[in-house]
Amino acid sequence: MRAPRILVTGGAGFIGSHTCVALIAAGYLPVVLDTLVNSDARSLQRVACITGVEPVLVCGDVRDAVALDRVFAAYDVAAVVHLAGLKAVGESMADPVSYYDVNLAGTLALVQAMDRTGVRTLVFSSSATVYGDSQPSPIVESAPYAAVNPYGRTKAMVESMLADLARADARWSIACLRYFNPIGAHESGLLGERPHGPPNNLMPYIAQVAAGQREWLVVHGADYDTVDGTGVRDYVHVMDVARRPGILMANLGTGRGASVLEVVSAFERASGRRIALRIGPRRPGDAPAYWADARGAWQAFGWRARRDLDQMCADSWRWQAANPHGFDDPAPAHASGLPRFQDNTSTSINSKPGHSHA
Ligand code: NAD
Ligand code: UD1
Repeated sequence: MRAPRILVTGGAGFIGSHTCVALIAAGYLPVVLDTLVNSDARSLQRVACITGVEPVLVCGDVRDAVALDRVFAAYDVAAVVHLAGLKAVGESMADPVSYYDVNLAGTLALVQAMDRTGVRTLVFSSSATVYGDSQPSPIVESAPYAAVNPYGRTKAMVESMLADLARADARWSIACLRYFNPIGAHESGLLGERPHGPPNNLMPYIAQVAAGQREWLVVHGADYDTVDGTGVRDYVHVMDVARRPGILMANLGTGRGASVLEVVSAFERASGRRIALRIGPRRPGDAPAYWADARGAWQAFGWRARRDLDQMCADSWRWQAANPHGFDDPAPAHASGLPRFQDNTSTSINSKPGHSHA
C-alpha cells in the first residue's frame, strides 16, 4: 500500500525537517513546499540519511495559488502541515507588511487551494506568542489573544480565520498547535537548527558560543522577577513537537519554565564547555516569564513532552559539534542510508491517549 502523502509547507526549515522525520517514521510520505528563504534543501537529504526516505521538495511559495494548485494536482495529498512563514519578532516590527503577506495571505492562499482540491485537514503551526505577556503562567488555551508584536498578531489572525472556517464548514478538520520554545535537534546529530546569519534565539546562540564561533552570550536582562533574574521560557524538544497528532487547538510545551541561566548550565553540562556570558539590558518586547499549561494536549490527543532540558541541550550540542558549518558539512559516511535510526517518537497523527508511546 502506498504511504499517504502529507504536504508540509516550510518543510525544509527547523521544525519542518524534524516533522518530516516524524511523518516518515509514522508511515507518511512528506511533500515539501518551501521557498528556502530561511532554510537549506540539504536538510531533506539529512532526513533521508536518518529515515532512508527523501521527501519530495517543491520549491515554491505558499502565497502562489498556481504553484499550490500544481502541487495538489501532482500529488495525492491527504492532509497539510503548514509551517511556512516568517518568525523573527524584531523583523516583524520593522517590516510588518511582509509578515502579514507571508503568514496571513500565505495561509489564506493555502486554505483556498485546499478547498478547491477538497483536502480539508490542516495542522497549523501557531505560537505561544499569541498570548502576549499579560497571562499568568501556566497559560491555558482559553487565555485571550493578546499578542504584542506583528508576528504574534499574524498567528492570532490566522487562528481566528481558521476557527471561522471550521465553524462555517464542518468538512474542515483543523489543529492549531501553539509551540512554546522548540529547541534541540534530532538525536542522530544529522539534523538541527541552522539559522541564516547570527541567531536571534537563545539555544543556537549558546551552541555557537560553545563551539567557539561566538565569544560570549549576552543575557538579555538579569533583573526580572524570576528565579535568578533572567527570562523564563518553556523549552520543548523539537522532536517532541514533531510528533504531531490529531485534530485540536493546543499548547505544545513541557509545562515547566527554565531561565536563561538554567539553560546555560544545562548546556555546559551537556557540552562539557564553559559558556562565556555577559549580562546586558533587557531586550525590548521580551516577557519576563511564561510557560504552558500542557494538560490540554494530553487530554485531547495523548501528547506530552518526553524529553527534558538536559536532552534538548545534549542533542543541540551533538548537532552543533558534528556540523559546525551546518548543512555545508558533509553528512557522516556512516549515515548514508543504512543503518537507519530507530525513531522512538513515531506515532500516528491520529494517536489517542492510551495509544501514545509516552
Ligand atoms: P524556519 O524558518 O526554520 O522554517 C520556516 C520555513 O518556511 C523555512 O524553510 C522557509 O524557507 C519557509 N518559508 C518562508 N516563507 C515561505 C513562503 N512564502 N512560501 C514557502 N515557504 C516559505 O522556522 P521554524 O522554527 O521551523 O518554524 C516553523 C513554523 O513554526 C513557523 O510558522 C513559525 O512561526 C512556527 N513557530 C516556530 C517557533 C520556534 O521557536 N521555532 C515557535 C512557535 C511557532
Ligand atoms: C521568541 C518569540 C516566539 C518565537 C520564538 C522563535 C515572543 C514573545 N516570543 O521567543 O514567538 O516563536 O522567538 O522565533 O516574541 N535570550 C538571551 N540572549 C540571547 C537570546 C535570547 O538572553 O542572545 C533570552 C531572551 O531574553 C529570552 C530567552 O532567552 O528570555 C529565550 O529567547 P528566544 O530564544 O529568543 O525566544 P523567545 O523570545 O521566548
